[in-house]
Amino acid sequence: MKKIILSLIAGILLMPMSMKADEGMWFLMFIERLNHRDMQKMGLQLTAEEIYSINHHSLKDAIVQFNGGCTAEIVSKEGLVLTNHHCGYDAVAELSSANDNILKNGFWAKDKAAEKHPETSLFVRFFVRMDDVSKRILSKVNPSMTEAEREKAIATEIALIEKENSEGGKYTVNVRPFFQGNEYYYFVYQDYRDVRLVGVPSESIGKFGGDTDNWVWPRHTGDFSMFRVYADKDGNPAAYSPNNVPLKPKHYLPVNLSGVKENDFAMILGYPGRTNRWMPAGGIEQNVKFAYPAWVEGAKTGMDNMKKYMEQSEALNLVYASKYASTANYWKNRQGMIDALSKFGTAKTKAVQEAKFNAWANKAENKAKYGNVVTNINKFYSITNEKSRHDNYLQQLFRTSASGNIGRTLGRSLDVYTKADATKRAAMKADVLDAAEQFFKDTYLPAEKDILAAQLDLYVAKAKGYPLAPSIVKLNGENKGQGFKNYVDAVMNMSMFSSLDRVKAFVEYPSQGMLDNDPLYVLSNDLFNHFTSKSDEIAKAQNDYTAAFRLLVEGLRESKIGDIKYPDANSTLRLTYGKVRSLPADKKNDAKINNYTTLDGQVKKYKKGDEEFDLPVKVLEMAKNKDYGRFADKDGSLHVNFLTDNDITGGNSGSPVLNGKGELIGVAFDGNIEAMAGDVIFDKKLQRTINVDIRYVLWIIENLSGAKNIVDEMTLVK
Ligand code: ARG
Repeated sequence: MKKIILSLIAGILLMPMSMKADEGMWFLMFIERLNHRDMQKMGLQLTAEEIYSINHHSLKDAIVQFNGGCTAEIVSKEGLVLTNHHCGYDAVAELSSANDNILKNGFWAKDKAAEKHPETSLFVRFFVRMDDVSKRILSKVNPSMTEAEREKAIATEIALIEKENSEGGKYTVNVRPFFQGNEYYYFVYQDYRDVRLVGVPSESIGKFGGDTDNWVWPRHTGDFSMFRVYADKDGNPAAYSPNNVPLKPKHYLPVNLSGVKENDFAMILGYPGRTNRWMPAGGIEQNVKFAYPAWVEGAKTGMDNMKKYMEQSEALNLVYASKYASTANYWKNRQGMIDALSKFGTAKTKAVQEAKFNAWANKAENKAKYGNVVTNINKFYSITNEKSRHDNYLQQLFRTSASGNIGRTLGRSLDVYTKADATKRAAMKADVLDAAEQFFKDTYLPAEKDILAAQLDLYVAKAKGYPLAPSIVKLNGENKGQGFKNYVDAVMNMSMFSSLDRVKAFVEYPSQGMLDNDPLYVLSNDLFNHFTSKSDEIAKAQNDYTAAFRLLVEGLRESKIGDIKYPDANSTLRLTYGKVRSLPADKKNDAKINNYTTLDGQVKKYKKGDEEFDLPVKVLEMAKNKDYGRFADKDGSLHVNFLTDNDITGGNSGSPVLNGKGELIGVAFDGNIEAMAGDVIFDKKLQRTINVDIRYVLWIIENLSGAKNIVDEMTLVK
């Protein structure tokens, strides 16, 4: 007990007086200790307890993770959920058809009965609490263990912690490593699986600017959509049922209509997916020269082949729209990272820090523990550069070719189904059939043939600095360099995965022999097995690297050579705070201060009939008449997007931007391309978050779409 108190006091004394604002993705449980004073100075009016409390309801109860990969917030006492357009995109595409194309035209439910429930899973995850389990977990490991032994020991302990906290399945519990496995925390969540679409603007607004404007400021995108969480009559999670009722949330966000100005306090709570702020120089170098160029090229190959078909009809466009958008998003991001990391010489900056660390690590008192750290890290990168290029080509093949990925998806489900006994099979049958139907809804055979053939051609041409998958080498020889088109055509025609009827017939009469000999299944498994296999030399280097990276982070913190006080993002709830902040004036933005954009600016970008810059006629008319309703800014214009200097990344999409009172002022949806190195190194000068102004959101709903019923549910404050 005494020891604990002493170390607590020491911890407080070691704390710098004021932490850096803007940079940092902070844990809610440490806000009081690490950030609260600084936040107050900047304009926060809430107590730490009002942000995160285990016993009372607090801000955190209004923040959810949306469908695994995004963030959303509760904005009414009837479970209304606000997130990005691009987060709801997949669900909206699923609910659309060529005849009733709500993705294209938009949709607003006139009452609750008109809300739409998508078939494929859509869930929101509430955060209940978190705690530190570092001591408990790390007491199970020792430095003489191999990484595999260590992982096993940790996994055993994690399973116990998850069981202890799940309350018999009521909660989902995750234990996650932080600071490269130097700390562990558990997170308790509650998932709700009946989530329905309430409304979405037309794609021309929700994705205004398309891929051209994606990651770019000045921006004019209405990137939002709305859903509602349903629960059983007692407020508990329940599978979809017409009898479910809107969830009564513990907390929901009031909406502030006053607007923002330069230097106003702004904070964001959400689920950032992944950053690599601790990544060694060798890793950055590998990404810039080997991994990301292959990613960019593989993504583009998939995109070009999807696009050919998307242009053929509205129905085909809907089949691939969502996959295309997510591929394009990271295609542009990775090219932006290559450019920014090269331009700023980020790897060099890191190498300088590592040289300093290495000198410290080789002092007599540190050598035994840290002496080999930098050597082992660099060794791993130098022998895996070509493998990382190779793996990225394959990864993009798996991502863009549903057929190439069949071994891990539908094919794998059929394998489990086939191997199961009769009772288990009967229980699985409906799910397997659903998965099959979904697969064929999401694919179009001629497009699948082209995507897979193009990806194999690219793979053979560009990935060969590392040994290629043996089956592909053999086939390429047999093709005599003619490309994979004819081969893929033949394979797909023979495969049962070429038609829903064939898969359905298989489900009636499953046969292991037939599955194991299905040529597409064989091809996909070959690629995947090759992707996961590695030489003994690489396996050994990887083992040493993993241990060394963990020690690097421990040593950087111990020596104070590394000065990052927060752990890398890993899809756990974080808070980032900063302020509304402009970028240097930009000729392309006619707003008086380059921290917001206006409806007039949007109209200036308008191109009639254009795939990316079209707008509904009504927007043009209303802009002309300055028909901004009650949502105009004091300056007389309608603000569309604005900038803050918060620290976010992918996964934060849809996060609430809050003022000092915890009221909603915007929805975060993007970053700026100049700061694309941000996931590796935060740039205080350039890094910005791009947000939709909440007043524009309400204007779209109430004034443009006439869905005042939805705005009336919210609590509006000035
Ligand atoms: N860049 C945004 C993000 O990663 C996604 C924007 C989606 N829009 C698009 N045009 N693809 O959160």
